[in-house]
Amino acid sequence: MAERVFIFDTTLRDGEQSPGAALNVHEKVEIAHALEELGVDIIEAGFPVSSPGDFQAVQRIAREIRGCIICGLTRANPRDIEVAAEALRDAAHPRIHTGLGVSDIHIRHKLQITREEALEWGVEAVKYARRFVEDVQYYAEDAGRADPEYLYRVLEAVIDAGATVVNIPDTTGYTTPDEFGALIRGIFENVRNIHRAIVSVHCHNDLGLATANTLAGIRNGARQAEVTINGIGERAGNCSLEEVVMALRTRQDLFGLETGINTRRIYPVSRLVSQLTGIPVQPNKAIVGVNAFAHSSGIHQDGVLKERSTYEIINPRDVGVPDSEIVLSARSGRHGLRHRLTELGYTLDDEQFEKVYNRFLVIADRKKTVDTRDLEAIIADEVQMFFEETYHLEHVQVTCGDHSIPTATVRIRGPEGQVYCDAAHGTGPVDAIYRAINRIVGEPNELIEFSIQAVTGGIDAVGRVTIRIQAKEPVVENGVERHIFSGWGSDTDIVVASAKAYMFALNRLIAARREAEARKKQMAESVASPRLRLPEKRLSPWA
Ligand code: KIV
Ligand code: ZN
Repeated sequence: MAERVFIFDTTLRDGEQSPGAALNVHEKVEIAHALEELGVDIIEAGFPVSSPGDFQAVQRIAREIRGCIICGLTRANPRDIEVAAEALRDAAHPRIHTGLGVSDIHIRHKLQITREEALEWGVEAVKYARRFVEDVQYYAEDAGRADPEYLYRVLEAVIDAGATVVNIPDTTGYTTPDEFGALIRGIFENVRNIHRAIVSVHCHNDLGLATANTLAGIRNGARQAEVTINGIGERAGNCSLEEVVMALRTRQDLFGLETGINTRRIYPVSRLVSQLTGIPVQPNKAIVGVNAFAHSSGIHQDGVLKERSTYEIINPRDVGVPDSEIVLSARSGRHGLRHRLTELGYTLDDEQFEKVYNRFLVIADRKKTVDTRDLEAIIADEVQMFFEETYHLEHVQVTCGDHSIPTATVRIRGPEGQVYCDAAHGTGPVDAIYRAINRIVGEPNELIEFSIQAVTGGIDAVGRVTIRIQAKEPVVENGVERHIFSGWGSDTDIVVASAKAYMFALNRLIAARREAEARKKQMAESVASPRLRLPEKRLSPWA
């Protein structure tokens, strides 16, 4: 049997650091379940000390996900480690991920300490984390720009202190594959006790080399890859899960390694993450982009029709790309729809199914046939709403044209069931709708992104609108301000889809504000309890 590369998914931690990607606790838990089904080995569920929301997400994921190692990030200080240990307390397989910088740039300018102090802090952090859990991963931040001799010393010391995994990040995405591969090889050749730990690679994509660097690390002995779905993450992002997994699988002849990933779940998880984070997948993105398996040139189409392997190295079905040739109609009935949804991997309760079925009937009536992408859009609208809806859009009506003033009327049901009706005019139909909604909801914000996509081809296609709004008054947790909220909506009428997307984003913002307030109260109570009382801040956290 081939040797295994462990897949460490950090979508919920490093991925969530993408600008504007903030997910609420329920959305994180939903993604964690999807990651477990996908077969990742480790889920980095968050950075518990960073906010009450992150703490709660890690705690819930630790309680609910039993088949993966659940990991929480910390800095190298006792408070972070205690809070992470507390969040992970109920995990079946907890891991604490602690560490600090190893490059002189980080040690001098960010930490403002000496190399020796940094080494000592790291060792103390590992020893302290080992008091709470048996599995401790150490990150040597900015290893890609560090002096290798110093890095070797740090790794040797933290492994002696009890680290079970050592993570070698190329934090700034600076290295090239040759360099990064040589760095990993050097670690195996120079760190005396390296056989006692798993070597992990964590590459950022600033030069577009994250996947190549990760694979170079694996070729040189690393056996854990740190990745995110769709490659989301800080700046240009992290190494993408789907690329590494499919490279290892497609080029088994070269690598001779395997992962535990159920590749048929890749596409659905990619859609889920894109949907919930509001970060679209670029069309030409390897493996999961809409064009990844589209052949438009005549020569290529001809070749693929004769024999797939002429231009295709991966069968789209192997990564779960839905077969758009399977269509349903209103006559398919409840049974047909349920069967198809199950085939696509959706398990819905009866209430969710009824909502989906009713929307399905409306679309089937307008379009006659409903294919997989339409179904995904329905699920996204009707099921993937992981917050309490405060305002419900009941009706929207617009008049517009080249010689009229765009005017919209909306009817909205409020939190206590009261019905509001209002109208406004604007520069265009969407502007008019958003103004009319604003008059009722009264949550000042600015629309910063608006995109519209046809879900399928054809004049009768369902249109999906994705938007981002920036709240005038941010949602604040632990001093961290969150301004940006995304929303989506789909309909055969794109004006209606725009209204739904806006309502969605506003509801998400209102729910985040409410949840942040509730958590603040809850955390204030628990921090006052002796179990979470934390040490005073000192110059060295270990003094
Ligand atoms: O990029 C990085 O160095 C990180 C560490 C915190 C692991 O994300
Ligand atoms: Zn990172």
